Amino acid sequence: MYNELKGKTAIVTGASSGLGKAIALRFGEEKMNVIVNYLNKKEEAQQVAGDIEKAGGKAIAVQGDVSVEEDIDRLIQSAHEHFGSLHVMMNNAGIQNEVPSHEMTLEEWNKVISVNLTGTFLGSTKAIAYMLEHRIQGSVINMSSVHEIVPWPHFVHYAASKGGMNMLSQTLALEYAGQGIRVNNIAPGAINTPINKEKFDNEEQRDEVLSMIPMKKIGEPEQVASVAAFLASDQASYVTGTTLFVDGGMKLYPSFAAGKG
Ligand code: NAI
Repeated sequence: MYNELKGKTAIVTGASSGLGKAIALRFGEEKMNVIVNYLNKKEEAQQVAGDIEKAGGKAIAVQGDVSVEEDIDRLIQSAHEHFGSLHVMMNNAGIQNEVPSHEMTLEEWNKVISVNLTGTFLGSTKAIAYMLEHRIQGSVINMSSVHEIVPWPHFVHYAASKGGMNMLSQTLALEYAGQGIRVNNIAPGAINTPINKEKFDNEEQRDEVLSMIPMKKIGEPEQVASVAAFLASDQASYVTGTTLFVDGGMKLYPSFAAGKG
């Protein structure tokens, strides 16, 4: 636990499930005020908000599509109106779908880019504008992926969106370091969340994924949430413009593990 997080305010996008939910709950355990953003799973988001309150934090569930500018404005406005501040912006919402690149439509490309990359641009820059206006030395945390650096056939839109987030976060980190605003990415590998349910429910596919992880374990959402809490905290006060990989070694070229090559 990080004592200084108590009473601070965070927005977590896509917080009704998976990693966003785990991070929102962890922020609740830190006794933070949390805007629990959801796209369409209202009841789940309200449940997350209720669990945060039980843990000693404060929370409200707020609907919003991260790719829509007015919706991001509304999230920030909600943080200001309900909790009077914004210290941590956790841009977590993201989507993916599998399509061979030569068959991908412009619509499919635009959809993933607008949620993953444009949504992160809107969330980051508007949170920074708020922090500058209110002289807050806050933390912006963007949920990237190992595919920020690892190519992924059939997911070119997703890999391009996460690769773009690498430069987005580094540029913002450089631009606002002087004002004490930190911007970092978290890059998970394979984590046990709804986005992977179909794949992990299939034994063959699960084993295939495990063979790509040097630690031979699928990650749990709480193992990502603890990294988000660290990046939000003063323990990371000198950390900016970096990506923390939470992937059991997935990006370490596992095919070299036996000393071959
Ligand atoms: P998930 O599918 O449970 O979470 C995604 C959340 O984003 C959902 O709650 C969904 O409703 C929300 N969302 C989708 N479009 C939205 C929009 N336009 N506006 C607001 N919310 C929206 O899956 P998971 O795994 O929790 O994904 C969270 C993030 O983690 C994503 O950015 C994903 O790319 C990233 N990630 C996940 C990995 C994993 O293995 N689970 C690995 C690497 C990255």
